[in-house]
Amino acid sequence: MSNIQDKVVIITGASSGIGEATAKELASKGAKLVLAARREERLKKLQEEIQKNGGQAIYKVTDVTSYEQMEELAD
Ligand SMILES: NC(=O)c1ccc[n+]([C@@H]2O[C@H](COP(=O)([O-])OP(=O)(O)OC[C@H]3O[C@@H](n4cnc5c(N)ncnc54)[C@H](OP(=O)(O)O)[C@@H]3O)[C@@H](O)[C@H]2O)c1
Repeated sequence: MSNIQDKVVIITGASSGIGEATAKELASKGAKLVLAARREERLKKLQEEIQKNGGQAIYKVTDVTSYEQMEELAD
């Protein structure tokens, strides 16, 4: 994957599995991550790990079944 530096990437399902692994990979390539899922503790831990490794990430607790929460995430 090229040209990812400084791109803003929103990842839903970032708290575990494929989403978490993708977040770490893209952060290592310079993307600015917005991490989303329901389990805040896991999102917080992932954000801290990415930042510790020099990456950029914020998180927002989001349930993708809520239209309102998805709008807030996009905003
Ligand atoms: N792992 C594989 O090898 C593989 C292969 C083929 C297909 N898949 C499919 O790919 C998908 C992801 O797999 P995975 O292994 O990464 O699973 P996983 O570790 O269980 O991760 C699922 C992610 O989705 C999030 N999530 C679930 N419901 C949510 C909701 N309502 N709102 C927001 N986030 C929600 C979970 O976060 P929270 O619980 O914190 O919200 C978690 O971050 C699954 O559908 C799986 O069947 C996986």
